[in-house]
Amino acid sequence: MAPMTEYVTVTADMPQARDGAIKLHGPAGFEGMRRAGRLGAEILDALVPHVVPGVTTAELDDIVRQMTIAAGGVPATLGYRGYTHSCCISSNHVVCHGIPSEKALKDGDIVNIDVTPMLDGWHGDTSRMFLVGDVGIKARRLVDVTYECLMLGLEQAKPGNHLGDISHAIQRHAEKHRYGVVRDFCGHGLGQVFHDAPEVVHVGRPGTGPELRPGMFFTVEPMINIGRADVKLLDDGWTAVTRDRSLSAQFEHSIGITEDGCEIFTKSPKGLDHPPY
Ligand code: MF3
Ligand code: CO
Ligand code: CO
Repeated sequence: MAPMTEYVTVTADMPQARDGAIKLHGPAGFEGMRRAGRLGAEILDALVPHVVPGVTTAELDDIVRQMTIAAGGVPATLGYRGYTHSCCISSNHVVCHGIPSEKALKDGDIVNIDVTPMLDGWHGDTSRMFLVGDVGIKARRLVDVTYECLMLGLEQAKPGNHLGDISHAIQRHAEKHRYGVVRDFCGHGLGQVFHDAPEVVHVGRPGTGPELRPGMFFTVEPMINIGRADVKLLDDGWTAVTRDRSLSAQFEHSIGITEDGCEIFTKSPKGLDHPPY
């Protein structure tokens, strides 16, 4: 028998635990996520002119922290499970959870910056790829296809569909290009909880997994590798890299299921959702 999925209708003023049930949020939740998501998108927009050869990832992390706090929010990653930075910055063969450092970006790098401002208790989790200087054609194609994977997945995000419909659309497009889809990390429910049920995997079969219902909030955040899907964790306990050292790309949006589709909370107000910017 398929595992049973539990749904629970929540309101913004209820204490929200991570109890395994899928939360169905109301209008106040949508409003909270709209504001947090917009801030996440505005932070990524503001980073565009700073992501250039020679900038250190610690400098970018400082900008993220300062902007989040200036807007009345808190970076949700700061102090999260011992993580001490305000965002994750993952270049080239780093799949995700790259730690900001004194190392500078260089011409030709592709870089993911993943921010999660928490604003009035709501989490705006979003990431985009940035191209540093002149980037080769193979890397640019990976970035383009990864963004297409995210958006093809989101086209499936509507009531009556299942999470597997989103996963399948992503996997199909990535594998058409002979890319590997990372299995070790996935999207997740979110709201007043940063990482909540359900798990949103990026490979799967149509019609499988939990049914999508209005009021569900979750991220879709495919990690796509030019080479094999396999990942390994570095000794710092955070940085995930491709085992074959092939390039990896990722984009992430936070969304809410509506009556007839989905609302993307983290769309760029400036139309800078994907490069070139
Ligand atoms: N923002 C990441 C996500 O997409 C989570 C980062 S947690 C951290 O879910 F601790 F690594 F920062
Ligand atoms: Co994220
Ligand atoms: Co996320």
